[in-house]
Amino acid sequence: MNSIKENAAVADESKFEYERILTGDRPTGPLHLGHYVGSLKNRVRLQDKYETFILIADIQALTTNFEHPERLKENIFLVALDYLACGINPNLSTIIIQSMIPEIAELTAFFSMLVSVNPLRHNPTIKTEAKERGYKELTYGFLGYPVSQTADIAIFKADLIPVGIDQLPHIELARKIVRKFNELYNCNLMKPFALIDKFSKLVGLDGNLKMSKSYGNAINLSDNFDLIKTKIRSALTDENRIHPADKGNPEICTIYSYHRAFSNENLIRETEYDCKNGKIGCVKCKENLFKIIKELLEPMNERRSYYLNNKDEVWDILFTGTKKAGLIASDTLREAKESMKISYSFS
Ligand code: TRP
Repeated sequence: MNSIKENAAVADESKFEYERILTGDRPTGPLHLGHYVGSLKNRVRLQDKYETFILIADIQALTTNFEHPERLKENIFLVALDYLACGINPNLSTIIIQSMIPEIAELTAFFSMLVSVNPLRHNPTIKTEAKERGYKELTYGFLGYPVSQTADIAIFKADLIPVGIDQLPHIELARKIVRKFNELYNCNLMKPFALIDKFSKLVGLDGNLKMSKSYGNAINLSDNFDLIKTKIRSALTDENRIHPADKGNPEICTIYSYHRAFSNENLIRETEYDCKNGKIGCVKCKENLFKIIKELLEPMNERRSYYLNNKDEVWDILFTGTKKAGLIASDTLREAKESMKISYSFS
């Protein structure tokens, strides 16, 4: 954690006052418990403290899903529904549809002149993601998504970007691009800081290091309880444990790691002790976890069904947020173009 703290791109909330948060997701499908633990929960907390903008990055989703643009609309809706269900409050948070803000694309074009290709090729997150997806060739759009992400951030004048550690290279790049832009053109775009969430990952049900839709090892926030129960039942535990009385090793157990993420201190301690001493079987331990997750999701389901019965309200929230954000975007773009001396007009 020390080395993270010393990174100039990482925010220090105890030293500086930040004003506007920008976070976002690619709408590629329903969000899952990993998203909740890694970012949504934090956003719900942060929206009380900072002005919060949340971007549904549909254009960025195309960088990996360009064959199916027709799925974006439904996915945007589902992501918005997940946000609202988990407690993102539209009176505190502005939710934005990326493709409805054309200024982002324009600013991306200007920023793209200031980045050479090699650092993008060597960007560790790009590399990992390309490998995970089995890409041999990278499209221009995929390679360049950190540049458009820089435009996302700069266009809304956001100074605090809550992200998982994997996104840190992108924030570092964003700072470099903005600094260069400001120096070259004597502009005053905001340089962002990353707010790194410590508990940023949830393992998959199969024990894979990451819960992810593409690995098929996720519990979605919108899954019904029967499905969740089945998924939890099939989750990987300590494989050496055959009988309930066998002594287990919670450290290598998926279910225990979920207890750590969702249960209260007492239950975590009890689970650890009972598992290590063969006092609880995996079946019972999984039942305990199911109860906890059910409790977490119940209030979310209530909000979810309200908005499912009032779909227009969801779109209204999205359009209102996008409109509000669009005003800031056009201001920023005007400033950027003026500083570049390219603000010609027809009149
Ligand atoms: N790249 C982010 C992700 O995959 C999503 C994203 C797009 C984002 N634009 C952003 C995050 C701007 C923070 C700020 O999770």
